[in-house]
Amino acid sequence: MKFTAISHPNIALIKYWGKADEKLNIPLNNNISITLDKLTTTTTVEFSEKYPKDSLILNKKETANLERVERVLNEIRKMAGIKDKAKIVSENNFPTGAGLASSSSGFSALALAASKAAGLNLDKKELSILARLGSGSACRSIYGGFVEWLAGKKSEDSYAIQIAKPDYWDLKILVTIIKEDEKEVGSTKGHSLAKENPFLETRLKILDKYLKDVRNGIKEKDFTKVGKAAEFDCISMHATMMTSIPMLLYWTTGTIRVINAVKKMREEGLECYFTIDAGPNVKVLCLPENAKKIESKLREVKGVKNVIENRPGEDARISEDHLF
Ligand code: PMV
Repeated sequence: MKFTAISHPNIALIKYWGKADEKLNIPLNNNISITLDKLTTTTTVEFSEKYPKDSLILNKKETANLERVERVLNEIRKMAGIKDKAKIVSENNFPTGAGLASSSSGFSALALAASKAAGLNLDKKELSILARLGSGSACRSIYGGFVEWLAGKKSEDSYAIQIAKPDYWDLKILVTIIKEDEKEVGSTKGHSLAKENPFLETRLKILDKYLKDVRNGIKEKDFTKVGKAAEFDCISMHATMMTSIPMLLYWTTGTIRVINAVKKMREEGLECYFTIDAGPNVKVLCLPENAKKIESKLREVKGVKNVIENRPGEDARISEDHLF
């Protein structure tokens, strides 16, 4: 049987950086994200004895390194008691590997489509755990809206829960595209560098306050509380990245120009906050009434190629439109 799933990437407001368990992708801290409605991964999976090996065609190109994909597939085969290999075809409607969290939607769509294709009917908690094995942040993309990943200590208790549904709060997330190239240092390497970084301890010590601010800020729909805490946590994660050995610097001149534009808009009374994952592209948070004005100002910033307006997106779900 063939199954297709659609999933959206998510942007972390409180970041996951550094793992307690590198193989199982268990994070050092709870973290919180918003699922993005406009960015989409679509993935079709079929298990069959006619396939000699697992294969993945991502954005029309055959992918050679299937290590993380096979972690998810092997777990599914174990659960379903099957030995068949899988054919996977996956497409993103946005740049892949450029710090736009394509692995979050990628592994969330894979967990859902592949488990269904193997005849399993997993609940959301089980899907979240499965997606996490491929890429940590993928456990959050199983849910739409506002999501918290409970770090846990072992695999069974490290999964995401939904804090609020997509239509609970109409926040806008303006994704500014500065660079579409794949990053040189992926997050797997980055997470392992973080562990040896002495500044990580300080980041983790102060993180709890910001985690609470974002969680409560979402519940209270307090934009200033959420924005301030998210921006601080982003800077704290990037400071940890920059002080890794070797240094991890994901920002470009364009990134800094957008950061300065956000600061300036705020000083002029247009409230907005930035956050950035492991890449140069900046996501700007704002309220709907200011979105159009902020978007047009962002488009004027030198180096910004495009701005995609998002709001909180839906859960990962099954689709009838197969890719093969
Ligand atoms: O899930 P990974 O291994 O791609 O790591 C994600 C790391 C960040 O995007 C930088 C932060 C986060 O919480 O999403």
